[in-house]
Order: sequence, then C-alpha cells, then structure tokens
Amino acid sequence: MRLKKLIFSSNRKHKKIGKMKNSKRFVKILGVGSYVPEKVVTNDDLSKIVDTSDEWIRARTGIRERRIAASDQTTSDLCVCAARKAMENASIAVDDIDLILTGTITSDVVLPSTSVFIQTKLGLKNIPCLDYNVACSGLQYGIELARSLIESRRYKNILLVCGDKLSAITDWEDRSTCILFGDGAGAIVLSATENEEENSIIDVVLGANGEHSELIILPAGGSREPASEKTVSERKHFMKMSGRDLFREAVKIMGNCAQEILDRNGMSANDMDFVVTHQANWRIIDAVRERLGVSPEKVCVTIEKYGNTSASSCIIALDSLIKNGKIVRGSKVLTVGFGAGLTWGAAILKF
Ligand code: UT7
Repeated sequence: MRLKKLIFSSNRKHKKIGKMKNSKRFVKILGVGSYVPEKVVTNDDLSKIVDTSDEWIRARTGIRERRIAASDQTTSDLCVCAARKAMENASIAVDDIDLILTGTITSDVVLPSTSVFIQTKLGLKNIPCLDYNVACSGLQYGIELARSLIESRRYKNILLVCGDKLSAITDWEDRSTCILFGDGAGAIVLSATENEEENSIIDVVLGANGEHSELIILPAGGSREPASEKTVSERKHFMKMSGRDLFREAVKIMGNCAQEILDRNGMSANDMDFVVTHQANWRIIDAVRERLGVSPEKVCVTIEKYGNTSASSCIIALDSLIKNGKIVRGSKVLTVGFGAGLTWGAAILKF
C-alpha cells in the first residue's frame, strides 16, 4: 500500500515535470552593460602617425575618435567591466550566472579561452565557459546560442559578453585600417522565463560564407602559418582588409538579412522603435537604413565616438539607447551584424 502510494505520487510528479518540459520556455533580456577604455584617440592624433586627415576619416567613415585600451588591459578586463555593469542593471547576483559565452577575435591568449579568464575575474567557479569567433556578428550569434540553451532548459541565466582589444591586432602603419577600429566590450544577461509576455527574443537569422574569408583576415599565428620571424617581419599578425569589397558586401548582406527577418515575421522596419546595425562605417549604416526605408532618427549611430569595436558595437549602441531612455519597456529593436568570415546575423528584440 505504501509502495503503491509512493509509485502513484512519483508518477504524478513525473507527469508534472513532463508537462513543464513540454511547455515553452522564453528568454528575457534582464540587463545590458558596456565599457570603453578611458583613452581617447582622435583623428588628428592618428594623422601624426600615418598619412591621413580628420577630414578624410570623417567624410569616408563618420569616425571622429575611438577608445584605446591601456597596454596592460586585456580583452577579458574590458569584458569584465561590461559584465559587471550588465549584472548590476539586471539586478542579478554573479553566483546566479550558470554559463558564460564570449564572442571575441582578440582572446587574451591563443589558449585557453577568454571566457575562463572572465569567469575567474568575476569570482565564479565551475560553470561552463565558451568562446566563439564570428567577429562583428557576435551579438546576433550569441543571442541565438543563449536562446537555444535557455529554451532547451539546460541553462537559466547566461552571461553573454562580446569584447575586443582590436588595437592589439591593428597595424598602426596601415592607414587604410588603423583609422577604423577601437576597443570596447558589451554584455547582456539573458534569463529564462515561463511568461511569454516577457519574451525578449522575437526571432534571429544567421548566416556565413567562407568563400569570402580572405576579405578580412589575420593571416599568421594559426596552424596555416605559425608565428615565425618571417611572419612578424611581414606584419602578418595584424588584420588585413579589402575595404572596398567589404563595404559592398556589408551593405548587401546586412540589407538582405534585415529584410529576411522582417519579412518572415510579417513586419517592416518602421514597426521597429530602433534599428541598431554593426558600426563599421557611417556610410554603410546609412545605406542599410535607406534600403530598409527608415528615418535617420530610428537608427542608432555611435561610430563617431568609438569607431568599429567589432561585436561589442551593437551592444554599446543598445546600452547607450537604454541609458538615454530611448529604449524603454516594450521597445522593439532590429539589430543587424556583419563581420569577418564572412558572417552575418539579424535579431528582433523586445525590451
Ligand atoms: O567590421 C567589418 C569590417 N570592415 C568594414 O566593413 C570596412 C568596410 N570598408 C570601408 O569602410 C571603406 O572601404 C574604407 C573606410 C576602409 C575606405 O573607404 P573608401 O571610400 O572605400 O576608400 P578606398 O579604399 O577606395 O580609397 C580611396 C583613396 C585611396 O587613394 P587613391 O588610390 O584613390 O589615390 C586610398 O589610398 O583613399 C586613400 N586612403 C586614405 N587617404 C587618407 C585610404 N585610407 C586613407 C586614409 N587617409 N586613412
């Protein structure tokens, strides 16, 4: 009799768990944070080290200045500053984080991952840590990863961090690239919710095309060309970029994937409160804006102050909109990223 009762109650419990497992879980953005280093480098500063001018840089890119990390600041240091702000804004205790995902192309060291340094600096232990490398599409890829892991009920509170010390892989003798980049980090806390009303991730679209892998590449230091005196003297440990080809691809690809995600959700860009694209060049942002048919007020531009900070650029932009009270509860935002790989992604978010 006792046994029968036990089996009965355990079956009931199973049924309850089974029901919970079948009910859909949603993902809420709990908090956003960002960090840029203190040191400001203006276009005039750069014109003292390469043959360029403030006028050329502003006209061709929209950039006025960028932030550059101190020599003893690593990517994980930038990420930790952004992560602490995101967790504070999320009102979540660091111990409640159960996974760290880090999108970076400038890991502190080649091995191990930057995520493990972030874990230790945050005082966390044992939780899984994972880096991924998709360059400037890091926000959109990270959101898709975090969403899948939360929806599958494997994780509850994910710390997604995107950060780069691009100044460490920038060739400061190459005027066609060094004027573009800056250092920075952004972080988002994504958490599980059973309440559909609280769902922040409406949809995500991702893509990649390895045929264009040479358009932006850091050629040496990997298994293809291990570091040697020759690779150093040939400056192959810095980013190489085909600017004009990338420009064309960026406009086409970001426009296409933004349109794809809007179409498949029966929305138009004008249904969005804001459009936040990767900040690679003001002219690229404006061309995508024109293609989507939205007014300039709906498009966030931070490139003039920070340059291209890779994957963190979209998070820094989102954070600035939140801080300025422009993104409020219920705001809908379309984010679009594009980067080395080539990779791309778009996400529709609801705050
Ligand atoms: O995160 C994603 C990866 N990056 C991108 O998406 C970058 C996409 N590309 C771009 O943003 C633009 O192509 C650049 C800003 C990199 C370059 O602008 P552009 O209008 O495409 O210039 P260009 O490369 O066609 O060069 C035009 C001229 C050239 O001189 P000549 O050959 O016409 O005499 C360059 O040598 O401008 C010259 N130039 C410069 N002049 C002054 C190139 N860089 C500079 C410079 N200052 N910094």
